[in-house]
Amino acid sequence: MWVTPRMSVRTGRTKISLLIFLVLSCFCGQSHGQYVDDPSAIQNVTYTYENYVLSGSMMLKSFPYNMNAYIYYQTYNGVWNFTGTIITVHWQWENAEVTYGNWSFSGPISPYGISKFYVLLQLVETGATYIDDNHGQYYAVANGAPRSTANCTGYDVVQTSVSSGVTNLNLALNGNGCALYSSDVKNLTVSITPYTSDIVRIKIADTANKQWQLPANVVPEGSASTGTIKTKSYTVSYTKSPFTFQVSRPSGEVLFDTSVSGLPSLIFENEYLEISSVLPDNANIYGLGDMADSFRRPPDTTLQTLWNIDQGTTRKNNAYGSHPVYYELRNGLVHGVFLRNSNGMDIALVPGQITYRVIGGVLDFYVFTGPTPAGALDQYTSIIGKPAFVPRWTLGFHQCRYGGTWVSTQGIKDTVDSLQQAGLYLDTVWADINYMNAYDDFTLGSGFWDWNAYVATLHQEHLYHVPIVDPGIPIVNGYRPYQDGLSSDVFLKWPNGSLFFGQVWPGVTVWADWFHPEAGTWWSNEIKNFHQIDSFDGLWIDMNEASNFVTPEGYEPAYTINNDGAWGVTGLNTRTLSTNLTHYSGVAEYNVHNLFGHYEAIHTHNALAALNPGKRTFVLSRSSFAGTGHYSQKWNGDNAATWDDLYLSIPQIMSNQLFGIPMVGSDICGFNGETTEELCNRWAQLGAFYPFSRHHHSTGMNDSFFFLWESVTESALKAYTIRYTLLPYLYGLMQQASTIGNAVFRPLWWDNPSDSNTYGIDTQFTLGNGILVTPVLTEGATSVTGYFPDGIWYDWYTGGVESSSAGYKTLDANLTHVNVHIKGGVILPAQYPAKTVYNTTQNPYFLIAALDSKGTSSGSLYVDDGVSVRSAYTQLNFGLSGSSLTIGVSKNSFNIGPKLNSVQILGFNATSVPSTIYLNGRTITGAKASLSQQVLDITGLSIGLNSNSVLQWK
Ligand SMILES: *[C@@H]1O[C@H](CO)[C@@H](O)[C@H](O)[C@H]1NC(C)=O
Ligand SMILES: *[C@@H]1O[C@H](CO)[C@@H](O)[C@H](O)[C@H]1NC(C)=O
Ligand SMILES: *[C@@H]1O[C@H](CO)[C@@H](O)[C@H](O)[C@H]1NC(C)=O
Ligand SMILES: *[C@@H]1O[C@H](CO)[C@@H](O)[C@H](O)[C@H]1NC(C)=O
Ligand SMILES: *[C@@H]1O[C@H](CO)[C@@H](O)[C@H](O)[C@H]1NC(C)=O
Repeated sequence: MWVTPRMSVRTGRTKISLLIFLVLSCFCGQSHGQYVDDPSAIQNVTYTYENYVLSGSMMLKSFPYNMNAYIYYQTYNGVWNFTGTIITVHWQWENAEVTYGNWSFSGPISPYGISKFYVLLQLVETGATYIDDNHGQYYAVANGAPRSTANCTGYDVVQTSVSSGVTNLNLALNGNGCALYSSDVKNLTVSITPYTSDIVRIKIADTANKQWQLPANVVPEGSASTGTIKTKSYTVSYTKSPFTFQVSRPSGEVLFDTSVSGLPSLIFENEYLEISSVLPDNANIYGLGDMADSFRRPPDTTLQTLWNIDQGTTRKNNAYGSHPVYYELRNGLVHGVFLRNSNGMDIALVPGQITYRVIGGVLDFYVFTGPTPAGALDQYTSIIGKPAFVPRWTLGFHQCRYGGTWVSTQGIKDTVDSLQQAGLYLDTVWADINYMNAYDDFTLGSGFWDWNAYVATLHQEHLYHVPIVDPGIPIVNGYRPYQDGLSSDVFLKWPNGSLFFGQVWPGVTVWADWFHPEAGTWWSNEIKNFHQIDSFDGLWIDMNEASNFVTPEGYEPAYTINNDGAWGVTGLNTRTLSTNLTHYSGVAEYNVHNLFGHYEAIHTHNALAALNPGKRTFVLSRSSFAGTGHYSQKWNGDNAATWDDLYLSIPQIMSNQLFGIPMVGSDICGFNGETTEELCNRWAQLGAFYPFSRHHHSTGMNDSFFFLWESVTESALKAYTIRYTLLPYLYGLMQQASTIGNAVFRPLWWDNPSDSNTYGIDTQFTLGNGILVTPVLTEGATSVTGYFPDGIWYDWYTGGVESSSAGYKTLDANLTHVNVHIKGGVILPAQYPAKTVYNTTQNPYFLIAALDSKGTSSGSLYVDDGVSVRSAYTQLNFGLSGSSLTIGVSKNSFNIGPKLNSVQILGFNATSVPSTIYLNGRTITGAKASLSQQVLDITGLSIGLNSNSVLQWK
């Protein structure tokens, strides 16, 4: 949900015009002609400074000299640095009085930030250089005056002890410290705990235990193996004076090393913690979010701020969630680093290093060593919690709309009817805030007097319903959620005990303090009451950064993180709760701001679990933190109907896989702004492959439902037919994600980590290892170029071989065609698609067996009731080799009704069509095989899937 327009007006990106007065004069004693003393030589400098890149433009007055103009900046070490000749201006002698030229500059600057920059004109004439650097006017960009790190000499190890495998170090501050932005902590305790053979935890905390530390019931800390770990895939070493630490692979490859030449070894102040690690040049770093950026983070110019904010897909901004974890892919091996800290922070990637600048808490690092991508994700999710297993119906198509005709039951029903009449797929009907009375949670507006009766008819059709619920509770006398919350005393307060008021959709509101021991009970009760008037199947929790339409007063620390991409301009309190608030037992909002949505998701999950005991829950959250995926699913918030946002959805969904939130998607056709037929068409083709696939559009906009355009209808039918056909496969991937943490929506390197061509690709993706999607992301395109990793790839539609060795290919992509390819070696379990998930699950199964170069393929199928938490299930494994397909049942406690009716073999390299089909050695009468273009179709089967069998053909 977009914030009101007046709140969404952005202040621009630190765009400030200033005049730089520059006096050109000779101070060198050399006399070369005449000199101009002109304070207006450089005019109208405008610049932006974001993500460690300074860029801008200015006007230079021409002079009768050859001139060079340079941009200089100053690091906070107090050293002026020269960024190179960004501008070179050569003018000939001429008499023109005032001729201006336009010049622009752009260049990366140091991770130490920039506190000032100035523009310098250099006068060059016959070999002599005249410089006047005394008249530069400087502009302070962020974080005040330059601060010297000369006294930031780190800590020394003063005591060491080892007990049951854990190394404990006591550190003492060297000298008096540097008090860069706050007070140095004098004594630190470091514990190095081998967790498992692949995970080591290195925690640096204040000995006095005054800094904020995350409670394990809110953000898990994993658990260390109790026994001795025999083989470790890492070694940890440290230096004593000053203290630094290194994590390496047994091969000697250094993964994390805090002794970065030229940087402070460790700064640990109460409100400013800084630590850096060495990275290889041009490192392949993924993760660090939420953000809208390329999937591979630019290693030289990334500044990732973590401070949850109601902010859509503005590139490189901090956004709704905070995930302080990165994965590095180095020579085919993956490792990851998780900083378990909820405070605001800036994380910078600059050449050769990563720097963390955190405004509170402790430094609690986990390094996990992979080395496979799936292994690394399994390790990370073993710490923060495995992703929740979603109910199967959530894999269908979701329809939503804010405003428009969706302001009454009838309006929504009309859309649903139109979708169904167009033959389109649909499973879930959403309701945005328009269903409420005056935007008050847990109420129904007058246009929705018959809503629950309608929801009942949806349920009869095996369709589902998810309404929105916001965390802002209006202060209305007699409004039950407010009154109940007051009685339970669960609302957030100022330190003096008075309620904190802000403003969101319903007007003036209060917010729950999720840390309060009664908050969960209160929230559960409200949800339970609401369910009596709206029998929803899941809940959508929005605005939980928490978003506030007004910016309250609140504490701002001395170090300014780059909140909202507006370094030095936008403080921590911008459009959210005041940092001064205190939660239950004195927990400071300053420390837990980033946990608001995460904790709300936990409470909402608990409420739904209590409502339907034993059933899986579905909670769609906008905000998230490390571990939210254990409780909740996610969408990428308020995107826009632009081609760039179409593209950005791919890296956003991929990044969330790394955060342990596999069930994620972006609003199809774009939320804000008007979409076009072509954009919506391409978006339907891509969105059909999002794990969470929902169409949504903002209020005040024209409708953009698929059925409004013929081309979009055709594309949606084609693409969602593939999705629904592959539901058994997709469901199996979700099940794997929830058990071993594997990614569902994968970058191409996931299954090809040694192929460096794949490292930067984020315009294509795979679902599991078997389906490659190459969507069109540019306007007007009728073809698309994609990369095919090694192996055989078959075209989804024809079954023919598209590629048999690694390389790029340009593919036809007319308006209604989305390119989908199947990996040789994979067996995809499929069902004949119906228009809902429920009806699809009633249909017979079939297998698509794509052969690899050896003529083999394998796959699996997982089936359960689709809703229970600890469901009985049946697990099958398929293996095809030569002329037989083996079906092996490895777990058999769920009775699979539908039978396996056919098998399609791609890459069937034989000239004669098999004439006889055998099941467990016996001829199946009625079964027959047909061959066309190396696709063998074996039909007429009826194989039960609860027992082992062997299918053969001759
Ligand atoms: C510089 O900007 C000022 C104010 O915006 C404008 O009046 C002036 O004309 C500009 N100078 C040039 C040389 O364009
Ligand atoms: C100045 O820039 C150069 C080249 O980019 C770099 O090698 C040097 O370390 C920088 N010096 C400082 C003090 O930042
Ligand atoms: C470093 O510490 C010394 C001694 O406390 C102090 O005199 C000096 O001003 C400090 N230097 C900086 C750059 O802060
Ligand atoms: C730091 O530790 C030393 C040695 O244990 C102790 O003497 C000193 O009081 C501690 N300082 C603080 C500020 O806790
Ligand atoms: C917030 O707290 C700071 C001290 O931490 C105080 O100076 C400031 O006045 C407080 N602001 C409000 C609005 O309470």
